[in-house]
Amino acid sequence: METRDPTALPAWAALRAQAAELASASLHDLVKERGAREERLVIDAGVLRLDATRQLVTLGTLDALTDLAREAQVIELRDAMFAGAHINTTEDRAVLHVALRAPRSSSRVVDGLDVTQAVHEVLERMADAAVRIREGTWHGATGEPITRVVSIGIGGSDLGPRMATLALEALGREGPEVRFVSNVDPVDLERALVGADPARTLVVVVSKTFHTLETLQNAQTALSWLRRSLGPSAEVVRRHVVAVSSNVDAATAFGIDPANVFGFWDFVGGRYSVWSAVGFALMVAIGPEAFMSFLAGAHALDEHFRCEPLERNAPVLHGLVALWNRTFLGAQTHAVLPYAERLALLPSYLQQLVMESNGKSVRRDGAPVTYDTGPIVWGEPGTKGQHAFYQLLHQGTTRVPVDIIVVAEPQAEPADHHDLLVANALAQAQALALGRGDAELAAQGVPEQLWAHKRMPGSRPSSVIMLPRLSPEALGALLAFYEHSVFVQGAIWGIDSFDQWGVELGKELAATLAPYTRGEHDAGDGTLDPTTERLVRWYRSWRSGGAGERSGN
Ligand code: F6P
Repeated sequence: METRDPTALPAWAALRAQAAELASASLHDLVKERGAREERLVIDAGVLRLDATRQLVTLGTLDALTDLAREAQVIELRDAMFAGAHINTTEDRAVLHVALRAPRSSSRVVDGLDVTQAVHEVLERMADAAVRIREGTWHGATGEPITRVVSIGIGGSDLGPRMATLALEALGREGPEVRFVSNVDPVDLERALVGADPARTLVVVVSKTFHTLETLQNAQTALSWLRRSLGPSAEVVRRHVVAVSSNVDAATAFGIDPANVFGFWDFVGGRYSVWSAVGFALMVAIGPEAFMSFLAGAHALDEHFRCEPLERNAPVLHGLVALWNRTFLGAQTHAVLPYAERLALLPSYLQQLVMESNGKSVRRDGAPVTYDTGPIVWGEPGTKGQHAFYQLLHQGTTRVPVDIIVVAEPQAEPADHHDLLVANALAQAQALALGRGDAELAAQGVPEQLWAHKRMPGSRPSSVIMLPRLSPEALGALLAFYEHSVFVQGAIWGIDSFDQWGVELGKELAATLAPYTRGEHDAGDGTLDPTTERLVRWYRSWRSGGAGERSGN
């Protein structure tokens, strides 16, 4: 599909003109508009409700944004994705995470592969292994059941299963304890292994490429830990290590029994892979049935995204509003504020989803973009964030659009905590939008010299995303909702949301620098740039415990 310069589309100019007006508009006035505006900005997508009425948009803005989506061929690109076209053009790959959650009855043959069949075969193997682990019939090398699962991966091979395992921890009380390791800092692995009995531990090595240095290093160290107490036999690896990878050959070359390798495919991007075997540790934690509900929740959202008109489509609305805030109103960051402690890792997960997908400055055709693309994503669960950074959200000089995520069902007792939690969520959204003016301050008897300090400007945009409960189904829907929102934005910006070339250089340089930080190469061999040479020297002097160049500068 031809990449269009979005700035040349008629709707772009219309939006630029509106942005000038709306940047200083008052949400006070906008939210008073009931009827059509509300109908456009409140959308139910299965279990999920999006309320975007507190965004700085008029009905005219919404029409222009929807026109922009049409003119930028979002619908055509969406349909091409679902059909398995190679829309990841720079890697010449299909983008089919949606196929990972499609029911067995669906059919999809892409590049000669019966995708549905292949996906469900792996799901069955995963479920078989997960049940054996959970029921205690997967035995370690000494015949013990597994009581600790340690999943080793990084980025997309870690953030999804880690975040979802925490989100659904209420379901994970029956299975073994599941821990995650991603950092090559040995502290991470050490913590995951604290209290673990090697005879009862299963290590899951998760890497799409099976080339990622951090993961391979952690996997080697975990293997040595197992071997130190269980011995060197191949049986130890067979019973204590499984792998998840699209590079099955590399996983088996690492020594892992092919029967213990769960594969996935090139058409699954790392940050879109929690639905695949990458979610194996999650499946062990919550059980196969709950994992299938997680997939079903995402599939329901996929169907909503695929079938609903743009005007009634929740991820489309979310994506259009996010693009409006970023590109037209100039918001540099976007905060995700889940009012659910179990969603504590959602902001980190969305950081990768949004920033690795849309942190790009060239279009698919290689032309530089002339507009702002993906925002910086950050956040913390409410109400903790309220006592840390909300001051800036309310009165800072930077406008930060926020997503406030509310779950209706209490996650623990006593439930009145939950009512207070939700009151806080709704109060913050209200305060951001409506602020507090001088008249109110005066009525409260606030001395006039403090008005400038206590005045709350309001008109700070937010969306509220509501879920009835933190079930596997709702979580699946929420993640798919964000995936499709990211898709809509990337499609309009004309960028490839599915590659990540920007992370490669650092990886290559780390591999080159490792012999220097290990002290195998001399920092002064003329290869390193002056700053790196100085930094390596300083590091080595402390690392080797010698006085070296500890000059303090
Ligand atoms: O560092 C970027 C990245 O390539 C991510 O896109 C990916 O999720 C992560 O590294 C891990 O890669 P792998 O699964 O191949 O180990």
